[in-house]
Amino acid sequence: IRPGFSDGWLYFSDILFQTVGNIIYNYVHIHNFNGGMIMKTIFSGIQPSGTITIGNYIGAMQQFVELQHDYNCYFCIVDQHAITVPQDPEQLRQNIRSLAALYLAVGIDPDKATLFIQSEVPAHAQAGWILQCISYIGELERMTQFKDKSAGKEAVSAGLLTYPPLMAADILLYNADLVPVGEDQKQHIELTRDLAERFNRKYKNIFTIPDIQLPKVGARIMSLQDPSKKMSKSDPNKRAYISLLDEPKQIEKKIKSAVTDSEGSVRYDKENKPGVSNLLSIYSIFSGKTIEELEREYEGIGYGQFKKDLAEVVIDKLKPIQEKYNELIDSQELDEILDRGREKANAVASETLKKMEDAIGLGRKR
Ligand code: TYM
Repeated sequence: IRPGFSDGWLYFSDILFQTVGNIIYNYVHIHNFNGGMIMKTIFSGIQPSGTITIGNYIGAMQQFVELQHDYNCYFCIVDQHAITVPQDPEQLRQNIRSLAALYLAVGIDPDKATLFIQSEVPAHAQAGWILQCISYIGELERMTQFKDKSAGKEAVSAGLLTYPPLMAADILLYNADLVPVGEDQKQHIELTRDLAERFNRKYKNIFTIPDIQLPKVGARIMSLQDPSKKMSKSDPNKRAYISLLDEPKQIEKKIKSAVTDSEGSVRYDKENKPGVSNLLSIYSIFSGKTIEELEREYEGIGYGQFKKDLAEVVIDKLKPIQEKYNELIDSQELDEILDRGREKANAVASETLKKMEDAIGLGRKR
């Protein structure tokens, strides 16, 4: 864009040029209108560190699918987060593509939401660095996820400690108003808010302070083998989780071997019956029935039948997702969607990065 008017006279061509420039600028920044209202922005991400589990689906993806109609959404495959722990390069590449296909297979509409890969938008790492520089080691060491993931390990990467400011960068670059996540990310969102406020106060008021959105049911789906632990895609025990791509036989086996208790009654009691309560939550979310309805339905019926029916409900729910996934995984369409997502995300993120650098005094005045 031309820096100023040529000779002091205001020509029609200059006005036209500026107007078109402003329209493009506003489109990039606000870009979505809903019945004349400016839509609020959502950002969320998932690590490609294994195959997505029903925990990720219930805690995060299911919310994304509902919210995409009413918000300007950015959904990210956060591959730079995944390398905070060792990853096999071949496997990581596969997981990235697989996660992209799964986002679409569960119902993300690429015409409504922007889907992209974090490492393809350089502003994330750049903004992450700036936010690391305003983070305190003490607050990063207090993150429970860091404590859990580093406990008992001899070699812990520096990235595992400094990952939350990168996550903050992900969110703040898009000036997200809302971040839909599962409960385990709550502390990271609180830190994001603190970092945004700190930056706004110290340098310039440029960041929106994002709110967290947790699902009403299923914010924390537990491991099938140890219901005191959350279900995790990186659990070395594959029986502990159900992946969105598990075969029906595997799903049956995993649910059959899920840890319950010796009481034998299907009742929701998180304290005393964490295993059964977890299965009831999954059942309720996948069937659309309330927990009370399910308790009534299974009164006097043992765990065997309950687990058999639950397996059927899960298999039925995952079938269309798996079919769509198989159509997409090797398609060119998937690459085109990711290319478009990268362009759109880049335009917005690099603008915010420029504002951050200006506010902090990096580089030359532009
Ligand atoms: P990740 O990849 O561990 O998980 C992705 C999403 O799934 C949710 N989730 C669960 N929800 C319910 N029950 C479970 N057992 C369960 N396990 C995982 C997570 O809460 C999350 O919403 N740091 C993030 C990724 C990230 C991000 C971001 C998220 C990077 N940048 C910016 C939001 C905004 C992570 O490791 O999620």
